[in-house]
Amino acid sequence: MTKTDINEELEYIEKIRKINEGKNLKYNIFTMGCQLNENDSEKICGMVEKMGYTKTENIAEADLVIYNTCCVRENAEEKLFGKLGEVKKQKEARGTIIAIGGCMMQEQHIVDKIKKSYKYDVIFGTHTLHKFPKDLYNAIMENKKITDILDIDGEIIEGLPIKRDDSIRASVTIMNGCNNFCTYCIVPYVRGRERSRNPEDILNEVKSLAQAGYKEITLLGQNVNSYMRVEREKGLCSSKIDSFAKLLRAVNNIEGIEKIRFVSPHPKDFTDDVIEAIRDCEKVSKFVHLPLQSGSTRVLKAMNRVYTKEQYLNLVEKMKEKIPNVKFSTDIIVGFPGETEEDFEDTLDVVKKVKFEQIFMFIYSRRVGTPADKMENQIPEEIKHKRFDRLKALYEEQIEENNKAYIETVQDILVEGYSKTNSDFLTGRTDSNKVVIFEGDSSLIGKVVPVKIVSEHLWYLRGEVL
Ligand code: 5AD
Ligand code: SF4
Repeated sequence: MTKTDINEELEYIEKIRKINEGKNLKYNIFTMGCQLNENDSEKICGMVEKMGYTKTENIAEADLVIYNTCCVRENAEEKLFGKLGEVKKQKEARGTIIAIGGCMMQEQHIVDKIKKSYKYDVIFGTHTLHKFPKDLYNAIMENKKITDILDIDGEIIEGLPIKRDDSIRASVTIMNGCNNFCTYCIVPYVRGRERSRNPEDILNEVKSLAQAGYKEITLLGQNVNSYMRVEREKGLCSSKIDSFAKLLRAVNNIEGIEKIRFVSPHPKDFTDDVIEAIRDCEKVSKFVHLPLQSGSTRVLKAMNRVYTKEQYLNLVEKMKEKIPNVKFSTDIIVGFPGETEEDFEDTLDVVKKVKFEQIFMFIYSRRVGTPADKMENQIPEEIKHKRFDRLKALYEEQIEENNKAYIETVQDILVEGYSKTNSDFLTGRTDSNKVVIFEGDSSLIGKVVPVKIVSEHLWYLRGEVL
């Protein structure tokens, strides 16, 4: 279900460019949430820059302000309403155009609240991103507020302009939506059902990135290792590349790309062919994100994660056996409804056993419309925070332990540029995504160089180029 004929919508980019000509207009974008949202923002920037707006980090001088929102946790909502409150005066003073898009706009109660209490010009959703130029044009020309939300799954859109944030590392979305319905998660309701991009479109995008000098590709999706599964089951995939494992192998063959990463996979879809593709493909990172969410089989069942603590640990063992030097990162939620002290200790137990290199830790956040929000045994905030702090302390202990193992090792590092925090040093990452800083000149940027690790710090390693 690919929609490639979006010329009519894109004609509005040219119409706006003509209106904007000679006006030196500026835009500011604020992106919340995951890498998929960041990738969507790169597409929004691509469209907006073709309309003649130039980017500014200073919102006060922006003529167009865009918010690309996330709704996975409650704090994002508070942040958006704070920002919309702040920008109100600017709109009144100089007529700044306000556009709000992304996942939060797929929630009716949020849109209702914005309409009632805040100023805006365009509201667009996750399924109507490609219509943003048309919506913006109508808002400008007719001087009226536009709300353009679809609550049925949008088609896969190919051919949108894109303005990438980086010149060495790039993200490529391979699928949209999610069919898993984990009971805490809002994503299936705001991003719709799983639908995969055609492999040819993905491979062409990666090839053109390689030609443009990009070295590292991150394949993105809410559930990447079920890539093409729905299409395969429905007989809708005509390509030979009809699974995630095959896609990894095909991307691995693209000349010029040095490193391939992917987020997020689901443990239940880690079939042997995926494990073998990671093992066999020399460019595919051996650092695997394996979202645990909870270490308790009872809680996992209530979360609808469809694996047990033992199955998760067995999967880790199997991957360790099959993939030399494999390392793991994970996502963990603390304080899911009904989580007991014993359940939480199961989570700590898995953390101790797997010794994750990186843990993204979240306090459970109630999301309107999800099954977990209706569960009666919600955990008091104080207990959630105490458990979060205990998990964090264990994690930090483990980082120190894990980091020590890097001392004196030689790591192949793709040099990303000068460190933002200390411009005397170059920076890059180990395969396991640890930041390494080291001395060197700018000719190394974009190259993979061997770096010996000489000291460790909680959030980075120091190295020397060999
Ligand atoms: N509360 C807290 N964390 C959540 N996540 C998803 N939904 C929620 C929620 N309601 C976390 C999960 C997921 C990550 C992207 O966000 O850990 O893997
Ligand atoms: Fe949300 Fe679960 Fe889908 Fe991830 S797999 S997006 S946590 S429903």
